Amino acid sequence: MRVLITGNMGYVGSVLTRFLRANFPQSELIGFDAGFFGHCLTGAALLPETLLDRQVFGDIREIPANLMEGVDAVVHLSAVSNDPMGNKFEAVTCDINQKASVRLAQLAAERGVRTFVFASSCSMYGYAEGGARKESDPARPLTAYARSKIGSEQAFAELELKGMTVTSLRFATACGMSDRLRLDLVLNDFVACAISSGEITVLSDGTPWRPLIDVEDMARAIAWAISRKHEEGGEFLAVNAGHNESNYQVRELAGAVARQVPGTRVSINRNAPPDKRSYKVDFSLFSKLAPAHTPQVTLDESIKRLRDGLTAMGFADRNFRNSPYMRLKTLERHMAAGWLGADLRWLPAAAAYWRAAAAA
Ligand SMILES: NC(=O)c1ccc[n+]([C@@H]2O[C@H](COP(=O)([O-])OP(=O)(O)OC[C@H]3O[C@@H](n4cnc5c(N)ncnc54)[C@H](O)[C@@H]3O)[C@@H](O)[C@H]2O)c1
Repeated sequence: MRVLITGNMGYVGSVLTRFLRANFPQSELIGFDAGFFGHCLTGAALLPETLLDRQVFGDIREIPANLMEGVDAVVHLSAVSNDPMGNKFEAVTCDINQKASVRLAQLAAERGVRTFVFASSCSMYGYAEGGARKESDPARPLTAYARSKIGSEQAFAELELKGMTVTSLRFATACGMSDRLRLDLVLNDFVACAISSGEITVLSDGTPWRPLIDVEDMARAIAWAISRKHEEGGEFLAVNAGHNESNYQVRELAGAVARQVPGTRVSINRNAPPDKRSYKVDFSLFSKLAPAHTPQVTLDESIKRLRDGLTAMGFADRNFRNSPYMRLKTLERHMAAGWLGADLRWLPAAAAYWRAAAAA
């Protein structure tokens, strides 16, 4: 089986590469990425991409169609991957996350790809009062990022799929250790705070609901989606990916981290205005369709892996919210250096940097 993974050089992709290599040892794995965060390694002794058969660098907005030749499955991760980036690069987020995704799916269907897996997000439920959100409930996207995910799904549902199975995994918020760790995710941020300063300051009143999924369980879900048959959910399927027991209030997460990192103080801003992003999600459909691939990593285990991973890195940066572990900060640094344009395309200055370095 030949698998093309877009956005493989990110937080999820680095874990997915290991997972697919271990679970599909005979498969041919090809990565495609712009490399925005390729240098943001966290504790890996080897580049995760050494597990691939081939790494291709490029922009998803101009992916060459011939890369799809002989490909059986496309796992499409590349994206502007959170709200702060989406807010800053709103039009670009629509171009990369939605327009390029729809074009990619179309190309894949035309080239005879068998399965297409899309990394969607539960954030499309926005502010959801009352019960846990099901796939059939209306989406209420509050941000450009969330709009790009539901917009892509709606377009996939209209495509002529020519027999290609499309699975849109509406992931819960990711957490857990990776060879390219992000600290702009709620649980990861809390563990980094606990380790670097011994204190977690919850910026909201702690009541918002947030479903979580460990990044390894995201890879497990993707492995299921790669092998999914039409009979299990139809030609196009959008499904919440997570576990019913993994809906947490933010204050619970802070408490769980404090238990695993002894000595941590937790302060909650009880006067904070209500956080608009709060949603509980119903993951029953996923459990029914993919009983052997439901999440297995517990919250405590995710916290321990983060704690041990950060400790092994000698992590002590109290100012980490300004560090390269925040995706937006890294893009801003590339832009300040003149390497990346406001449209998130590499500029000639990036190549000039390497020529100068080679000549020095
Ligand atoms: N992390 C989460 O909480 C979460 C939750 C739900 C869904 N997702 C989705 O999972 C996917 C992976 O997320 P992640 O956390 O690994 O994000 P990430 O930012 O770590 O990785 C995204 C990757 O996409 C690449 N990329 C971005 N724009 C590109 C372009 N124009 N051309 C080629 N490559 C490009 C980046 O270089 C990067 O390697 C994303 O689609 C994200 O929306 C993530």
